[in-house]
Amino acid sequence: MEDLKKEFYERLSAVKTVAELDALKAEYIGKKGKITQQLKRLKDLPPEERRRVGSVLNALKKEIEAVIRERREDLLDRIKPSDPTLPGRLRRKGVGALHPIRIVANEILKVLENMGFEIGEGPEVETDENNFTLLNIPQWHPARDMQQSLYLNNGMLLRTHTSPFQIRYMKSHRPPLKAATFGKVFRADDFDATHSPVFHQIEGFAVDRDISIGSLKWTLEQIVKALFGEDARVKFVPSYFPFTEPSMEVSVWYRGEWLEMLGCGMIHPNVLKNVGIDPDEWSGYAFGIGVERFAMVKYGIEDIRHFYENDVRFLRQFRYENWV
Ligand code: DAH
Repeated sequence: MEDLKKEFYERLSAVKTVAELDALKAEYIGKKGKITQQLKRLKDLPPEERRRVGSVLNALKKEIEAVIRERREDLLDRIKPSDPTLPGRLRRKGVGALHPIRIVANEILKVLENMGFEIGEGPEVETDENNFTLLNIPQWHPARDMQQSLYLNNGMLLRTHTSPFQIRYMKSHRPPLKAATFGKVFRADDFDATHSPVFHQIEGFAVDRDISIGSLKWTLEQIVKALFGEDARVKFVPSYFPFTEPSMEVSVWYRGEWLEMLGCGMIHPNVLKNVGIDPDEWSGYAFGIGVERFAMVKYGIEDIRHFYENDVRFLRQFRYENWV
């Protein structure tokens, strides 16, 4: 059997085409192949020997099958794709994957899109006016402090939240409106387990004639259920944001505790006025979701820094999420 194996490998190394490979395969493990014939002869051996020889023969057969499969891939790789109608071969090794932040964002955006939100984009470099003033954030507000905002030399700043998207969208569209965006936001924060100077938000808002807190609550419930399951519950807790009145924070009941997840509220009449929408005729709701926070809760990630270090051992764990 050792001779047979040696002989096979010698023959294999001389193979240059797929046809030759197929012939070699038939010669060894085909219906009348050398190995096949040996296997047929097993029944003539005494039981003890039959078992021993049988297991060695079967192992050799498996090995030959595997080696031939591999060699076939190699040979096919070398053939120029002269027939574009041939089916593609699936590559499992080295396939890329979506980042967990992108996976969570896509899930949220899909829910919003299905509910009729238009998905848009805003710039990462913003004017002070869009980022603060028009959002009813007065001059004295601590959010304007240089400690938290990253200003550029030209007086513009890296947006500290995605809320200026509301302003841009409302300036260029007339109500009724329903829009959302996903993107990076920047703050002069520490970089530790729970803070990062760059993170991601999803901003959504709607303006119509009879928008109520009820629509806001229902919308957020759909998002939370899509991400955390039908059993997830949401709780609204009074809060403060300059651009909403009333303002609320949403907590999600997950694995036995209430977790603060996002900010929201009814768009402040001043904000509507600032973009030329009459608050006596129109009302709206808005919400801002911290995507890292959602991802951390959903996947049980305790340190926000994992998202940015790009350690493949971390990233690989999310590979299959892409395929569902
Ligand atoms: N912009 C807020 C932040 O960055 C989050 C937020 C709160 C957005 C309430 C909203 C909202 O649209 O209504 O912390």
